Formats: sequence, C-alpha cells, structure tokens
Amino acid sequence: MCGIVGYVGPRNAVSVIIGGLKRLEYRGYDSAGIAVVRDGRLMRRRTAGKLRHLEDSLRVDPIEGVFGIGHTRWATHGRPSEENAHPHQDCTGRIVVVHNGIIENYLDLKRLLLERNHRIETQTDTEVIAHLVEEQYQGSLLESVRNTLPKLKGVYALALLHVGEPQRLIAARMGPPMVVGLGDHENFLASDIPALLPYTKDFIFLDDGELAEITPDSARLFDRHGHETTRTPQRIAWDPIQVEKGGYRHFMLKEIHEQPQAARDTLVGRIDLEAGDVNLEELGPAIEGLRTAERVVIVACGTSWHAALVGKFLLERLAKIPTETDYGSEFRYREPLVGPSTLAIAISQSGETADTLAAFREAKARGALPVAVCNVRGSMLTREAAGTLLTHAGPEIGVASTKAFTSQIIAMLLIALHAARLRGTLERNTLRALLAGLTRIPSLMDQTLGLDNRIDALSRTLAHAKDFLFIGRGIHYPIALEGALKLKEISYAHAEGYPAGEMKHGPIALIDESVPVVALCPAGRVFEKMVSNVQEVKARGGRVIALVTAGDSTLASVLDGTDDAIIEIPPSEELLSPLLFVVPQQLLAYHVALRAGRDVDQPRNLAKSVTVE
Ligand code: AGP
Repeated sequence: MCGIVGYVGPRNAVSVIIGGLKRLEYRGYDSAGIAVVRDGRLMRRRTAGKLRHLEDSLRVDPIEGVFGIGHTRWATHGRPSEENAHPHQDCTGRIVVVHNGIIENYLDLKRLLLERNHRIETQTDTEVIAHLVEEQYQGSLLESVRNTLPKLKGVYALALLHVGEPQRLIAARMGPPMVVGLGDHENFLASDIPALLPYTKDFIFLDDGELAEITPDSARLFDRHGHETTRTPQRIAWDPIQVEKGGYRHFMLKEIHEQPQAARDTLVGRIDLEAGDVNLEELGPAIEGLRTAERVVIVACGTSWHAALVGKFLLERLAKIPTETDYGSEFRYREPLVGPSTLAIAISQSGETADTLAAFREAKARGALPVAVCNVRGSMLTREAAGTLLTHAGPEIGVASTKAFTSQIIAMLLIALHAARLRGTLERNTLRALLAGLTRIPSLMDQTLGLDNRIDALSRTLAHAKDFLFIGRGIHYPIALEGALKLKEISYAHAEGYPAGEMKHGPIALIDESVPVVALCPAGRVFEKMVSNVQEVKARGGRVIALVTAGDSTLASVLDGTDDAIIEIPPSEELLSPLLFVVPQQLLAYHVALRAGRDVDQPRNLAKSVTVE
C-alpha cells in the first residue's frame, strides 16, 4: 500500500520527506513523488519505479522547500508512470494532494469535472480530489477539504497543501491509516510510524472520518462533523534503529533472527510460574470473556490467519472452548452466527488490514465481544477492540511476516492458558509445565536459528524447483500452510500447504522428483502417521525435506535419497513446537528467494499492510 509523508517546520522538507518515504518502502510501491513549497513557489518531482530514481532526479536537479508532502504509489487506477505518480494538483497548480486508498466513484466525479471544464491530466482516481477541493476553495484549505470529503465514496488517507497557505497541511482518513507525528516547532504526517521515528515518538492516530490540520506549532483534530476534538498522543517506544537493517542484508532475515527477543518481549510480565497462571490484566473487562464465552471466532488474513488456526487448536485443546476461524475477507459473506455469547478475536500485525477490520466490525455489530491481538499500539484495530493483547515484536518491516507470527502464536497460547485457568480445564501442574516450557522457547528459537547455514546450503538444491508441497498434521497443519505462504510470497515459486492426511485425496498426484515435499514430523501423536506420509511420497519417487524433533532416527532409515534432507528441531512440549518448526521454513523461504534473485523485503505485487478490501 502507498506511503505518505508530510512535513511542516524549519528543516529541509525534501530530506525529511524522502527519508520518511525510504522508511516506508517496505509497504510496496511502483512510483514516487514529492511536492514542496518555498516563498509561494511549488516545486514537484515524480518518477516511476523505485525511490532511488526520484533521489537520482533530485540529486541532478535539486528542489527546495520549507514544507511539503511526498508519496510512494502502489498503483490501483492507472499504470505505474511518472504522470500517474502522486502528488497530483488542481487546475491552478496551487492545491496538491497525495492519497492512499481507492475512490470508488471517481469516474462519475471525473465526468462532472470535465463537464465543468477542469483540465484532468492523469488516469488516477486521486487527481479528482484536487479538482474537487479547488471548486470548494474560498480561502481555507481545511474547510474546502471538509466540504469535499462527503463527495468521495471509497477509502482514503489524504494529505494536502495549498501554496497560498504556507506551513500548513491537511490530512484526512477513511480506512487506510494516517498518523500525526508531534515535534518541537515542527509536525509531521505519515501513513505509518517508522517514517517518523528519527524525529518523534509521539503520535496521534486519526480515526475514520477525522481531519487533521498541522502547522509547526499546532496539530488540530476534527471529527466527521467538523467539531474540533482532542486525543492523547501515543508514545511509541520503538527506536529508529529498530527500523534499520542493523547489519543484516534484509529486514526479513533480521526479523527472523529477532524472534527470540520478540518472544521474550511478548512473554515478559505475563507469566507467573509460582501461581501457574498468566497475567492478562491489560485485556481489562474483556478478560471476563475468556471465562464466560460459549464459543470463539477468530478472524484474520494471511499469515495472521495461520496464527488463528493455531489459536483454534490451542483454545479447544486447553480451554475446551468451541472455536472457529475465518478469513477476514470471507467472514461477513456467510451471515456469521455470532452474538453476545461469542468472543471475537482479530489477529493482525498491522492493526490496519481492511478485511480483518471489516470482519471485526461485523462480529462486533452482531454483539460479540471484540478482542484484538496486534503488534501496533494505537492502530485502528486496537482502538476498536474491547481489549487488546499486544505482541511486542517491534516494528516488522519485511513484507513477509515472521517475528509477528511467532509472537501471535505466543499471544494465543497466553490467552488459551489463561482461559484454561479461569475455566479449570487444565491440571495446575500441566499448566505450570507449559508455562515453564514457554519460558524456554526463546533460547530454543536461538538454537533453531543455528540451522541458518544448513538451510542456506539446502536451498541451493531447491533453487530450480517450481512447485513445492508442505504437509503437516494437527497443530502443525497451519505451520505447513505458513511455510508454503512464506515460500510463495517471496520466491514466487508455487507452494501449497496441505493437511498431510489429505495427500491421498488428491495432492499425491503431484508427486514426482521435481516437487519437493516439506514434511513436518514432530515427536508426538502425529509422528507415526507423518512417517507413513513420507513413505507414500518416497514410494512415488518424490523428494522429502523432513523437519523432525532432534534425536529421532526413524526417518533416517526411510529417507535414503541423496536429495532428501532431515532437519532436526530442538525438542519442546508438543503444543509449543510450532514456534520452532516454523523457523527453518522461514529461513528456507528466505534463502530460496535470495537465490532466485527476488526482492525479499518488497516482493512484487505485495504490500506490508493491505488497507484496501
Ligand atoms: C504474510 O507474510 C503476508 N505479508 C500477509 O499474508 C499478512 O499476514 C496479511 O496481509 C495480514 O496482515 P496483518 O497481520 O497486518 O493483518
């Protein structure tokens, strides 16, 4: 999704804006642009492709400004090109806008504007906003924007400036996120926190329907009715270095290796080994839902939906609560049977995923108790929840989610264990043993990360495979799905995750020596069946990469092929093993994608936070 940065204050607006856009590159984009104003003169520069092209252009032919807005565009309407790149302007060239989202009625609006002799230059939906504001403008950009918004159907995060209103920016939000960064005699706008971390830790998150006006010494917020409102700034304790690569080649590799710390940070203060309990007071009154809910529905998308599947397994196994999961994008189409006795959990790294937000709102509207598991304090999801359990994974920049995923599983474990405690469905000693096991997970993750070189070497033999199959059973079925998603989204190879038991019902037809099968074979109740699945694959000449609990020797006798591989994972409690079995799969995806020459942190067509439905 697009990136937006705006600046008013004494600094060089070009360097603040370009630096901010660079820290938003992970959001995925295909063109970029900037508009700044100095002494009543607007200077705009736009380029197709990556931000470095814009930087090159500015190096050759610099522009200067004391305030301005910038944008990285993820094309929705109109191909990626210089002319379609934002910022866009009105006929006078004095009103400038950048936009994240989709204006669904833009063709009708465009037709009206053309009838009224506006000169429209681009194929974008965004440009019509500049011309609509132009029509409303009577000396106040804030008022003209406020009068324009009711005409727009769709979703938007906007930032606008008027050449005649120096050191003033207007922002508006309906859907995609927009934050105000608060500085000292300077203020900022951005579509996400990392853009502004070098300058401020204090943020105001706009709600849907809200407008903001910033000058160097003021940041005013207005509700959808135009009434000024106030909101306590959120202090985000992330430090700027966390959004840098810290010596790693890619953010994704850094974040895979940050998982032990993310696990520690997500656990800290929440485990009471003495009492054999979990401290989830931050859920507030919503915690009662863990005791009383008759059923749970978990909504999420992508990798977070895989965490939801693990959560389902844990809630049913540990707390004996009937639980179902659904994709955020599907939930509302099935007239979901949820109500006041339902606990609705939404899992999201960003807290801004439009499909997850829509499902969450649907469940809430039907009376369910809304609880969020989220990695971004102050995000839309956390503000709409009755209670939030934050994952403390820190900023996750790589588009492929890794440390947020394992932190989400830990959060779901904490919820399931506390619910079990409240409902008395788990022997106290069993609960204590699981909590003790959980405290060992960060160091076991560290140990598992030691497989990096082994996985890198293995990836060399997989670089040419075009199709992969990932299979697992029980709590490892979602982990097989996650391994497949990681591989496909960054290497572009076709990879499918499947319940291992389903092999004989179809996928086994795919098996031959050209389709590597990653088989998750943890010690425990599914092991024997997984060995049978591995033998089925071998019997058809297939190639197997088996992830096993260290110490197992069974598979060594089954896997005799030179192309086969056995990856040993440190032993842990069975219910905690997904936290370890996912790590080699993340590393495998990373190294295969690297060998394929892919843009690991910003894979094609993908965005870090999908803020459109
Ligand atoms: C995961 O690697 C993907 N980037 C994607 O599936 C992601 O998990 C999904 O878009 C949900 O994002 P969220 O967790 O921010 O809601």
